[in-house]
Amino acid sequence: METAKLSLQGKDYELPVIVGSEGEVGIDVTKLRGSSGAITVDPGYGNTGSCLSSITFINGEKGILQYRGYPIEEIANKLRFVEVCYLLIYGHLPNNLELEDFHHKLTHHSLIHEDMKKFFEGIPPEAHPMAVLSAMFSSLSAYYPDTGNGEDVDLNIIRLLAKAKTIAAFSYKKSIGQPYVYPRNDLSYPGDFLHMMYAVPAEPYLVSDVLEKALNMLLILHADHEQNCSTSTVRMVGSSQANVFASMAAGVAALWGPLHGGANQQVISMLQKIHDDGGDYKKYVAMAKDKNSDFRLMGFGHRVYKNFDPRAQILKKQSDKVLTELGITDPMLDIAKNLEQVALEDDYFVERKLYPNVDFYSGILYRAMGIPTQMFTVMFALGRLPGWISQWKEMRSDPKGRIYRPRQIYTGETKRPVVPLEKR
Ligand code: CMC
Repeated sequence: METAKLSLQGKDYELPVIVGSEGEVGIDVTKLRGSSGAITVDPGYGNTGSCLSSITFINGEKGILQYRGYPIEEIANKLRFVEVCYLLIYGHLPNNLELEDFHHKLTHHSLIHEDMKKFFEGIPPEAHPMAVLSAMFSSLSAYYPDTGNGEDVDLNIIRLLAKAKTIAAFSYKKSIGQPYVYPRNDLSYPGDFLHMMYAVPAEPYLVSDVLEKALNMLLILHADHEQNCSTSTVRMVGSSQANVFASMAAGVAALWGPLHGGANQQVISMLQKIHDDGGDYKKYVAMAKDKNSDFRLMGFGHRVYKNFDPRAQILKKQSDKVLTELGITDPMLDIAKNLEQVALEDDYFVERKLYPNVDFYSGILYRAMGIPTQMFTVMFALGRLPGWISQWKEMRSDPKGRIYRPRQIYTGETKRPVVPLEKR
């Protein structure tokens, strides 16, 4: 077995090397503190592997993303979102029977307890839907407590996936003051979500094929992304053996931030600002490069992708297609494309390997689908839910799993006595 050598304070240590199935190399430091007293320091965890996982593989240099070994380009074009949920959670693509059973369960658990509607009543209409989603996920644990029985956990996972779209759509209906629309069992997962978002009691609602397909792809493209901020949060919270609902609520909270899933909302605000400012996108590229300005090009850059984000490439093509099919011309799409072109040729962005990420084009698509800007990050959360669940499940079924508990290097005051109040 290959090892890595470390010399520290006059002593040599041999550290085991772990090689993943795609050739990724990691130095195993699990015994380092015990043997040397030292720890590794890696703020932002850019060089830290927090777990071994068989769910998602990313090669950021080559722009590769695979769920359970299947390339994202194939998955996005060939599968339905529920198949991808199944793949992520159970590890293989479902056969006909498995898919039928899974879809049946997802539809028959999609109602939320009628009492939960009262929660929505208490929320101000202008509340951010991510606040609502996180609170409602947490509240589900009040209705479906974790008894520690594995079967309950499996059922709670189904409940969570099934009810998430109902909760998301209800939060939207609440924000616009319309009556809630109940789920329908005859529709696909994305189709049912669109129905609950847009149907009104006065007239029948026909799910548009174009919107349903576009949403199916958007959800798939967001479904998992290995150890990102929200997924690591889910694992961190779940490692204390917190229940699945509480762990997912924490994931929603982490996703909300503008540097993570909240970026999709920020991208549209940024494009709108550029548009309202006369469309001078070059001025904003200059601002993003200016170290005296806090401004960043939202939807640009990624911790892992250093060449291109394959999800952004798929979404760029999809935006063109869907807008054409819907007969929509959106000046934001033109601004986005121009901004991308200028940034991709600019030394600042080239040197730092900053490329459009998944959030750059997703907002344009959501807008075309009539989804309000405040809901964009909720859409991301809906897509990411199967990823969070599969990562949570993988972590909880690891017999060697331990509570996540990093260490630190203390840099504060050394030990000193408390000075009495009158002498301070
Ligand atoms: N605009 C301008 N400069 C940038 C940008 C940007 N969007 N992103 C990074 N940089 C610069 C940054 O200032 C730094 O420059 P320097 O080396 O001179 O100090 C360098 O690039 C490296 O940036 P970093 O902040 O150290 O990189 P990170 O890996 O810690 O952050 C990021 C990754 C995605 C948070 C960051 O690129 C960013 O803030 N992007 C905008 C927000 C965004 O689009 N987030 C969505 C990410 S994709 C969806 C998801 O999975 O969350």
